[in-house]
Amino acid sequence: MNLPNLMEAKKRQSKEVLTKTNAYIVEHELKNLGLNKTYYIKTYGCQMNEHDTENIKAILEDMSFMECDNMEQADLILLNTCAIRENAHNKVFGMIGRIKNLKARRPNIIVGLCGCMAQEEIVVEEIMKKHDWLDIVFGTHNIYNLPHILAKSLNKKKLEVDVLSCEGDIIENIPVKRDSKYKAWVNIMYGCDKFCTYCIVPYTRGKQRSRMPEHILNEVKELVFDGYKEVTLLGQNVNAYGKDLNINYKMENLLEDVAKTGIERVRFVTSHPWDFTDNMIKTIKDNKNIMPYIHLPLQSGSSRILKLMGRRYTKESYLELYKKIKEALPYSSITTDIIVGFPGESEEDFLETLDVVNQCKFDSAYTFIFSPRVGTPAAKMKDDVSLDEKNNRLQRLNSLINQYSKEANDKYLNKVVPVLIEGYSEKDNHKLMGYTDTMKLVNIVGDSQNIGKIVNVKIQEIKTWSMDGEIVSDYISV
Ligand code: 5AD
Ligand code: SF4
Repeated sequence: MNLPNLMEAKKRQSKEVLTKTNAYIVEHELKNLGLNKTYYIKTYGCQMNEHDTENIKAILEDMSFMECDNMEQADLILLNTCAIRENAHNKVFGMIGRIKNLKARRPNIIVGLCGCMAQEEIVVEEIMKKHDWLDIVFGTHNIYNLPHILAKSLNKKKLEVDVLSCEGDIIENIPVKRDSKYKAWVNIMYGCDKFCTYCIVPYTRGKQRSRMPEHILNEVKELVFDGYKEVTLLGQNVNAYGKDLNINYKMENLLEDVAKTGIERVRFVTSHPWDFTDNMIKTIKDNKNIMPYIHLPLQSGSSRILKLMGRRYTKESYLELYKKIKEALPYSSITTDIIVGFPGESEEDFLETLDVVNQCKFDSAYTFIFSPRVGTPAAKMKDDVSLDEKNNRLQRLNSLINQYSKEANDKYLNKVVPVLIEGYSEKDNHKLMGYTDTMKLVNIVGDSQNIGKIVNVKIQEIKTWSMDGEIVSDYISV
């Protein structure tokens, strides 16, 4: 048993992070552990988790498990969880309750919990106290060790908890089973050292560790070779890429080198405004295959609240950066994250947030009510804003955000824009769907032979969350 420990997770060790290219091993005797068995993974949370699920799938398939899309029928069920807000946490415990009934009917199924919640001390305590019928719990730092964790639990036929509080080395040989044939997630770094006062991520994902450039570039080159059209470079704070490596190589260098691999589209998430440099803006402008789409979390428009959040920028410096990006990249779409009801947020502070939204007119935004996370400094701050007031602010914010989303979309009417066609539309399977280079969802009339291609689409109708259009020609990349 290895149990998570919050105090340990908070520490930043000075020990050098090693890159290991052969740490993931499935011994011969484990290769058939999943023979004639199926697995089902339910993923919560961000793209990082989605990508971890792609790794877990490939690991399970290395052990002969087969994917199944129906949880009720699977022999192995894994919940890959998110710890960012309380509602994600509650959803997972709700799901555990449902699976308990399944396990009562089919006692031989294997049930596991992994991801960010597994890194939380209070979660693991609750599981050991109330849900010790689970079979495995493992964290974000030892996914590559899943075959051994699973074998151990099956041998002793009881709950095996294996969570490392501190990050380990970077493991480069974990396999991946990608969800899409056209778009791929590529991790460029793990962890985060920003310690924004509300955020649990620096505890659940450990210290910032950048992958070596050659490993990232080789992965992208392979994707190009395999016919992938778009890569998303992933990290909690990608603009800080490289700062922990002892080489003079930054995010702008990586972006430029990824663009040069010949991939048709590249984007990156998530940016912290503090690390967004002029050179980054120039690199995006100079490389036509870097998508003009920037997710730039604001969190709050009040400099006072930003200071309490530990964000290290002010309302004014955010606006200045925003303006600089828009001047250099007028066609770009900029989206954001905003938290309302942070402890002590006054009506005046909230109005500052609305003021930034009015000035920036974001293409879209993810908006949240502050959720206290055990162990973070903000969870201990005095919070005198009532839940009613927080809900009211969220509603006012959302209606403004929606108004600007629609206005941003309106600018596309009758324009011809490049769209990567991903497949059939979920709402209407006579139509195709895809995203513009600015990440606008488009439902399209056109031939299914275009799936997997970037084509020019004429936008004919605008909705708040999507657009309708028609394919007019192939897209010729420059
Ligand atoms: N409460 C509410 N929202 C949060 N986020 C992160 N932590 C919290 C929290 N404790 C939001 C931030 C972040 C996004 C991924 O989730 O806006 O950018
Ligand atoms: Fe959390 Fe992002 Fe702040 Fe890191 S930069 S602590 S992931 S909000």
